[in-house]
Amino acid sequence: MKKIVLTSIVALAASTALMAGVNPAVCAGCHGQNFEKKALGRSDIVANMTHKEIASALIAYKTTTESDELVMKPQVSRYSDADLKAFAQTIGK
Ligand code: HEC
Repeated sequence: MKKIVLTSIVALAASTALMAGVNPAVCAGCHGQNFEKKALGRSDIVANMTHKEIASALIAYKTTTESDELVMKPQVSRYSDADLKAFAQTIGK
């Protein structure tokens, strides 16, 4: 058990070091590899959103209290607005 915990801490540290910015692999489970899916059957298709729309959505999720948006809160809360803006430039259109 101790070993398992240690291994996952090391793995976490390694992945944290790798992702200076947002890691899209975490998003893929819900949004698809290329953000082509409706996450959990109800989000907009992020691939069809503009960089600007994505940036403001991601920044807004950091402070949302809307119950249907809470799923996105932990996805973005650890990132700075600048990180989220920079990442938004890499997805969507
Ligand atoms: C557990 C599933 C899940 C994960 C993981 C996830 N999302 Fe989401 N995402 C959702 C859902 C559900 C919504 C729609 C929430 C709402 O109603 O506003 C959403 C909404 C969004 C939106 C706005 C789309 C809209 O409907 O306006 C963006 C942009 C987005 N996610 C980006 C991301 C990024 C980037 C990541 C990875 C850092 C991520 N998501 C990880 C489930 C997820």
